[in-house]
Amino acid sequence: MRPFVFKSSLGLKGKIILTGDKSIAHRAVILSAVSRGSTQIKNFPANKDCLATINSLKKLGVKIKPGSQNTITVFGEGLHGLNKPESDIFIAESGTTLRLLLGILAGQDFRTRVTAGQALSKRPMLRVTAPLRMMGVKIKSKLKSKEEYPPITIQGGDLRAVTYKMPVASAQVKSAILLAGLYAKGATKVIELVKTRDHTERMLKLFKAGIKPKGNTIVIEGGKRLSTPGLIYIPGDISSAAFFIVGATIIAGSRVCLKNISINPSRLGVIRVLKRMGADIQVRCHRPDAGGYEPIGEIKVKSSLLKGTVVKKAEIPSLIDELPVLMVASCFAKGRTIFEGVGELRVKETDRIRSVLENLKKMGADIAVDKSARAENIIVKGPVQLKGARLRSFGDHRTAMSMIIAGLAAGGRTEIDDTFCINKSFPEFLSILRSLTK
Ligand code: S3P
Repeated sequence: MRPFVFKSSLGLKGKIILTGDKSIAHRAVILSAVSRGSTQIKNFPANKDCLATINSLKKLGVKIKPGSQNTITVFGEGLHGLNKPESDIFIAESGTTLRLLLGILAGQDFRTRVTAGQALSKRPMLRVTAPLRMMGVKIKSKLKSKEEYPPITIQGGDLRAVTYKMPVASAQVKSAILLAGLYAKGATKVIELVKTRDHTERMLKLFKAGIKPKGNTIVIEGGKRLSTPGLIYIPGDISSAAFFIVGATIIAGSRVCLKNISINPSRLGVIRVLKRMGADIQVRCHRPDAGGYEPIGEIKVKSSLLKGTVVKKAEIPSLIDELPVLMVASCFAKGRTIFEGVGELRVKETDRIRSVLENLKKMGADIAVDKSARAENIIVKGPVQLKGARLRSFGDHRTAMSMIIAGLAAGGRTEIDDTFCINKSFPEFLSILRSLTK
């Protein structure tokens, strides 16, 4: 693979519209597949993870037709209309696909074996297999040092409703239980210690499921058919937007406007933290509930000077995927920035504490992990004028994009070993970046 080489930027400028949010898109296709009738999904992102969801559902007998301009049509088979796949379902590297799909497979009266790519095969699954087993699902997986990994064989069937108090803050796990809850007898209750993104709850409501979220508790009624809204527009991905928001904040002379972005509060931690640090960001809501399910808005960013802040553990789920690029931003902030309780970063596409620290240190950042508290904290001291360096993506899309933003804000020449991994979530990243740096 040829490395990607680039120099400092003189500012990001322009207006952009991004393709749909990855998290919302997975949920839209999955619920469309298990409702009856056809659903047209607009602004569907053509990234590898979302394609993994489409391919998995196709293997279960669901017809999905691509249309023009990022539109797809899903022909739903109903909750019990999926077919036993003829062979294993290969999920590639999409953790969200795998964990959400297990929730649906939990309700199917047949056995399925799901396999994963190299990196996903090393990510922990006990967090999702444990509650599904409590509901009566039979699951076998690869066991190693008391943790479970793909491949996973799952036999669904009669499910019992449970009350489950989440030990880890994970929207994927919560979603798997809620999806399984659609098939259970009675009401399944999920209690979160810290609230995570609520796209599943919103999408279930849109499909008229019997769902009642109240505070940190969500109750879902089993045995109720889903009803498609017919058309779903997926708003732009805030996690993809975050790279340009941070880039425009830390690169002097920038001014960027992002249109049609999902501004769901459970995902806006990145904006709240950057604003606290002094960033010049304006969020304007266009449609509080586009199509009745997700708020959409416009985000305007101008470059500004930042100061350090403390990001509390309770805030982490609202910005979990934006932590790498927020760590880049904090190198430019005056004073100390502390990210508390970030241990979940160890089990993402790669160990993102290692990947980000190794790269930023090469660029001259003052960044360290503090393990003395029971949780892992990251401490960054700034401001530091980062310098260009030879960096590694570790095969991780968000490490790669964060380091490209760091390199554009740094002095001199930066080289990154691989940008192919970016296709996992955001294939348009480099071309949009080029349009903003012209
Ligand atoms: C996601 C939830 C988060 C996030 C991931 C997408 C989702 O993972 O990091 O990129 O769509 O539910 P966890 O549930 O593991 O926190």
